[in-house]
Amino acid sequence: MIRANDNYSKLQASYLFSDIAKKVNDYQLKNPEAHIIRLGIGDVTRALAPEVIKGFHDGVNEMANDATFRGYGPEQGYAFLRETIAKNDFQDRGADILPDEIFVSDGAKCDTGNFQELFAKDIKVAIPDPVYPAYLDTNVMAGRTGEFEKGRYSGIIYMDCLKENNFLPKLPEEQVDLIYLCFPNNPTGSTATKEELTLWVEYAKKNQALILFDAAYEAFIRDEALPRTIYEIEGAREVAVEFRSFSKTAGFTGTRCGFTVVPKNCMIFNSKGEKTSLHAMWNRRHTTKFNGVSYPVQKAAQAVYSQEGKAQVQEQISYYLNNADIIRKTIETLGLDYVGGKNSPYIWIDGSGMDSWKFFDLLLTKASVVCTPGAGFGRCGNNYIRLSAFNSLDNVTLAMERLKKALALKSRVTNRSGLTNRSHVK
Ligand code: MLT
Repeated sequence: MIRANDNYSKLQASYLFSDIAKKVNDYQLKNPEAHIIRLGIGDVTRALAPEVIKGFHDGVNEMANDATFRGYGPEQGYAFLRETIAKNDFQDRGADILPDEIFVSDGAKCDTGNFQELFAKDIKVAIPDPVYPAYLDTNVMAGRTGEFEKGRYSGIIYMDCLKENNFLPKLPEEQVDLIYLCFPNNPTGSTATKEELTLWVEYAKKNQALILFDAAYEAFIRDEALPRTIYEIEGAREVAVEFRSFSKTAGFTGTRCGFTVVPKNCMIFNSKGEKTSLHAMWNRRHTTKFNGVSYPVQKAAQAVYSQEGKAQVQEQISYYLNNADIIRKTIETLGLDYVGGKNSPYIWIDGSGMDSWKFFDLLLTKASVVCTPGAGFGRCGNNYIRLSAFNSLDNVTLAMERLKKALALKSRVTNRSGLTNRSHVK
């Protein structure tokens, strides 16, 4: 009898963003005239930069000619792209990463989800709450958790990220083996300093643990004092893997390209306690299960690093950061507490006690604005929503006007019904 992986039955019915998309589509069907503005999923809206398109076209043109056509490429990515990444993203920032430590892939979601395959089933996993759901769900699928009760899976060590700790996870009190970190953070938009990341690298070294560091949003860092890669931290090469993506950096959400850095001296341990090369394991997995990113896409990704490409991509990021500023200022005007929106495209808003799905429904039905309910990222997000800055300036401006009206209305209704409207903390 063909039997199912029972761990799937522990998962929530559907993936967060699929759930939201369904709700929004249902609403649109019932309200065909509604002009819905999507500030939910972090999906870019601006066209690929001209230099990137040129790289893309060059790649396509080469594929159109027998003399320059390419079939299977190296699974790990073409040398031209791995060398360009190593130099620009790491070596130029003083981080000692070599081209053959970079594995080009179709994006950070797949890599952050797949990486846990390399570890034993009974390791202790520490995951922030709130968190990007793919880290947690893939560990559930792999059978590293018990059942889901009261908003949490047993067997996971949750690291609460709350206002009281500046939305930064605290070092676990118990010994853990695998730690997921993401900075600038999705969903909260919070950032970590070099000193804060140093504490994690030291913890990992002391406990023979591994850090999976998701840096998909590093391009949004404008504060020069903040680290752009975990490899700016001394010793991180031995205990950290880093995930990167061109999705938000250069508008590749539909084009698909990212990469994972696995330093050669990053070791894990087999059941006999012997050191095992993580690089060799990931290489084995990658070459077995992945056949590389298409050549034109890798040419497009390389163009992100040309002089013109860098300038054009920076301009796009500034555009989204300007949207984030507009959102932050509106939220301030409304007297709501928030974090993020600086060095990050996400703004994490405290709903002053309102349940996050109720907040979601309110914004959808009264403002035709889509947010992401914080509960979808974990129990600590129950009273938060996330707004994303990825949309056009016109749409963001309009969405903020609608938000002001919808929330003013809500506040009047709540006051009239005698409920207290919690005073807003700054
Ligand atoms: C998000 O909205 O959290 C991201 O866009 C989802 C993703 O990158 O897969």
